[in-house]
Amino acid sequence: MLASPDHTVSLTAPAKINLALHVTGRRDDGYHLLDSLVVFARFGDRLSVTKAAADSFTLSGPYGAGLPADDTNLVLRARDALRRQHGGRATPVAIHLEKHLPIASGIGGGSSDAAAALRALGALWDIDASLTELAALGLLLGADVPMCLHGEALIARGIGEKIERIAAFPRLPMVLVNNGVTVSTPQVFSALTRCDNPPLPALPPLTSLAEVCAYLRQTDNHLFAATQKLAPSINGSMQALIDTNPLLARMSGSGGTCFALYSDDAAADAAARRLRQRQPAWFVVATSSTMEGN
Ligand code: C5P
Repeated sequence: MLASPDHTVSLTAPAKINLALHVTGRRDDGYHLLDSLVVFARFGDRLSVTKAAADSFTLSGPYGAGLPADDTNLVLRARDALRRQHGGRATPVAIHLEKHLPIASGIGGGSSDAAAALRALGALWDIDASLTELAALGLLLGADVPMCLHGEALIARGIGEKIERIAAFPRLPMVLVNNGVTVSTPQVFSALTRCDNPPLPALPPLTSLAEVCAYLRQTDNHLFAATQKLAPSINGSMQALIDTNPLLARMSGSGGTCFALYSDDAAADAAARRLRQRQPAWFVVATSSTMEGN
């Protein structure tokens, strides 16, 4: 987190990647029980908050025009929720969001922005809230907000709010691809044909990329078939990734962003270059997952 003397706090809202996502049950309120192995990418949106004379919210970046700047935006809902809890300290603030992540695309853009807003405003307003308190507030904004607050390799259970951090996890060179399709998460969950899948296999200590891939091959993304039905063009994204000969290719979250893992950064960069040449209009990014402490 970058804090400057002019009372600005800036931070990255990273892309969230569900390396594996098992749907293990359904709650009475309709939410689904998940078991998901999640990492965060170095690539994401940029959020900055500055003390100001009056509240404002501005958007920029390649996907900035696709989002409402009104108080339905998760960033402003996060601001308002934190302000309700800590009224006295919550002075007016100018918030700017540089949107680099495609909207409604399974890599947690909105949730990650909300988590970044909670962290940035907590710092700007000097609010002494623990991660657990912020996560409880974040859960009211969306099931993925608590995991985005953690921002490091983790297993998420429950509806996503029961989080177990993974102490050490290898850095994963990867490419993210989205062909422009937007996917409605509630529709994907509604289209599931079964919700009683087995949980993820117990996670052994994973110290190398090869071990991560061997583990992931025993897992799945149980939302994939439902997303394929609702948005068949996702098959094109997946095939394009497979054509680059990655170690593994899979969809993240409810899609439509797909990711692929590569043996090193050079292989990920080369795959991204090839994909961009073939599909100049697609979102294609070579990045890697963050490791603890980075
Ligand atoms: O919590 P969030 O608003 O991000 O979730 C969007 C929708 O996705 C929910 O309204 C629900 O339909 C579905 N969902 C679910 N089970 C989860 C997370 C989300 O059914 N664990």
